[in-house]
Amino acid sequence: MKKILLLGSGELGKEFVIACQRLGQYVVAVDRYAGAPAMQVADDFEVINMLDGKALDAIVKKHQPDIIVPEIEAIRTEHFYDFEAQGIQVVPSAMGANFTMNRKAIRDLAAQELNLKTADYQYATSESQLRMAAESIGFPCVVKPLMSSSGKGQSVLKTADDVADAWNYAVEGSRGDIVEVIVEAFIDFQYEITLLTVTQKEGPTLFCAPIGHVQERGDYRQSWQPCPMKPELLQKAQTMAKTVTEALGGAGIFGVEFFIGENDVWFSELSPRPHDTGMVTLAQTQNLNQFELHARAILGLPIPQIELLHSGASSVVLADKEGEAPVFKGVKAALTNVRTNVFLFGKPTQRPYRRMGVVMVYDEVDADIQAVVAKAKNIAADIKVL
Ligand SMILES: Nc1ncnc2c1ncn2[C@@H]1O[C@H](COP(=O)(O)OP(=O)(O)OP(=O)(O)O)[C@@H](O)[C@H]1O
Ligand SMILES: [Mg+2]
Repeated sequence: MKKILLLGSGELGKEFVIACQRLGQYVVAVDRYAGAPAMQVADDFEVINMLDGKALDAIVKKHQPDIIVPEIEAIRTEHFYDFEAQGIQVVPSAMGANFTMNRKAIRDLAAQELNLKTADYQYATSESQLRMAAESIGFPCVVKPLMSSSGKGQSVLKTADDVADAWNYAVEGSRGDIVEVIVEAFIDFQYEITLLTVTQKEGPTLFCAPIGHVQERGDYRQSWQPCPMKPELLQKAQTMAKTVTEALGGAGIFGVEFFIGENDVWFSELSPRPHDTGMVTLAQTQNLNQFELHARAILGLPIPQIELLHSGASSVVLADKEGEAPVFKGVKAALTNVRTNVFLFGKPTQRPYRRMGVVMVYDEVDADIQAVVAKAKNIAADIKVL
């Protein structure tokens, strides 16, 4: 049995803990508030600010974990190199976690060192630099803080008149002490995918069937699997995903995000952990869901194959106001549908746009995927958070 320190205890962490518990592991769940979803199913918990390096060191010293598993980006990840040097397994690797918490590190690795195709990009540390960068990349372009997630501080610039607002919005939405943004060419993609990619301690890098998704306000709304795509474009994405995940090193699942055009594949970004759009794998789409794959890869357990069993779709249930002890309306009606499941995360408080649950629908492997998505979306729309 391994002792696992899980940094971040949201709904993805909760499912990861359940996967670990089924394999008889011991998990300490960490987050900045008590009662977080993963804490509800873990063996022990800690409440700290994970950006506080001293607090992080203290709980590592206290619990002496075998494995540290980050579930979020907002962690003092520089300390991971020390933990790794002390002999603790950091997932996927100290470098993997550290490089992906800052858009610059992962983008320069992908675009410059590994030569993966990405949107043209530049960085800026002031409004005037942003103006020059945007003019040189051209409009429309996208501005994102180097450190942020869930679309915070991101905006699309249509003309030079948008620069000042975009700069201020990005600075407000930045996490931590870095005030720097990336400016990217706007890619007019046909669709976007997450390619769940599993690197193993022993054994080849594996891929799940591609997951399509739609994003609004920086967060995903619906995801589906499989996402139909031309075989040669899928092949390209797999090669790119293998290249970048193996460069980061270590073992675990990665959510590798791509934009797909008529004949092009652009690498966008990746998470070295289960991906929110990958929650669709809880809809019976695969023999092993993304959390079970992550647990097996981390523990060095075999994954003889990843098999697509059904098509599936997930659609999120969002809160629309502030409040405590949320009550859900419409769950009973939702569950009268066949091949449908509802997951409620057990978050103690709600605020507008906070993800509180998700509806999962599955169907035959070759079902019309847009119909599966529409079903999940309609069912989720009738669940209200009171
Ligand atoms: N260069 C671009 N061109 C067109 N659309 C883009 C571009 N960059 C980002 N987007 C859109 O914005 C979404 C969020 O961007 P990105 O994944 O970089 O940010 P994020 O904050 O890390 O999101 P998350 O952490 O929720 O995955 C993308 O999924 C895509 O829909
Ligand atoms: Mg993203």
